[in-house]
Amino acid sequence: MKSVAAFSTLLAYAAAQTTYFGVISSRSASPIHLLPLQANGGKFFLGGTASGYCPSEAIGDETCAHYPGNSTTFAGGDVSLSLGVVVPGGQQVYVAPDGTLSYTQAHSAFVPEGSVRTGWNKTERNDGSNLGSLSFEGGLVACPRNETQPWQVYGQIENFTAPEGCLGFGAVTYTASDAAAWQY
Ligand SMILES: *[C@@H]1O[C@H](CO)[C@@H](O)[C@H](O)[C@H]1NC(C)=O
Ligand SMILES: *[C@@H]1O[C@H](CO)[C@@H](O)[C@H](O)[C@H]1NC(C)=O
Ligand SMILES: *[C@@H]1O[C@H](CO)[C@@H](O)[C@H](O)[C@H]1NC(C)=O
Ligand SMILES: *[C@@H]1O[C@H](CO)[C@@H](O)[C@H](O)[C@H]1NC(C)=O
Repeated sequence: MKSVAAFSTLLAYAAAQTTYFGVISSRSASPIHLLPLQANGGKFFLGGTASGYCPSEAIGDETCAHYPGNSTTFAGGDVSLSLGVVVPGGQQVYVAPDGTLSYTQAHSAFVPEGSVRTGWNKTERNDGSNLGSLSFEGGLVACPRNETQPWQVYGQIENFTAPEGCLGFGAVTYTASDAAAWQY
């Protein structure tokens, strides 16, 4: 147990060095204006909840209580983008060959061949706010899905053609104080 406590302290220290941020969609006068970008089941959606998970048997209830996992934060955004997670090794964001915005599973760096891992650019507003913007080369679109996950997010990579009904959107960032999940 002692080593787990030491490990948690180390993680807390590591977390303090990282800047985490949440992402909100922006497309005025549309149904996808101001919805949170959420990680769920390996993909991303606008609105709804996040599928965060914390292995409390291994990590402990006390540590897990800090990471409810019902919202989504990110880290990086300079060329590459990661999820804001505590799990060792992190979780990388990529655009799969079918255009779906996706993330790696915890404890794995696997991404399908033909995926795009770069093209991100996060910039800050110089207005004293904690807001900024995040762009993906080619742009981001949200496509209608179903009642539970109304809008699925895609990155417009080469050879991806957004089906009719999809809407492009801008991504507004806000600084978050910590990772929101142990892992997704
Ligand atoms: C997430 O869960 C925590 C703890 O249960 C709760 O306090 C918080 O309001 C929830 N946040 C969202 C965005 O649902
Ligand atoms: C990132 O975006 C900013 C603001 O639009 C721009 O000035 C900068 O050149 C971009 N950086 C890259 C690497 O594209
Ligand atoms: C909604 O779409 C998501 C993403 O494709 C899928 O995982 C989920 O099972 C769907 N839910 C229903 C109720 O069809
Ligand atoms: C796009 O499609 C063309 C034609 O099928 C193919 O030659 C090319 O390799 C594809 N590009 C990517 C990045 O998959």
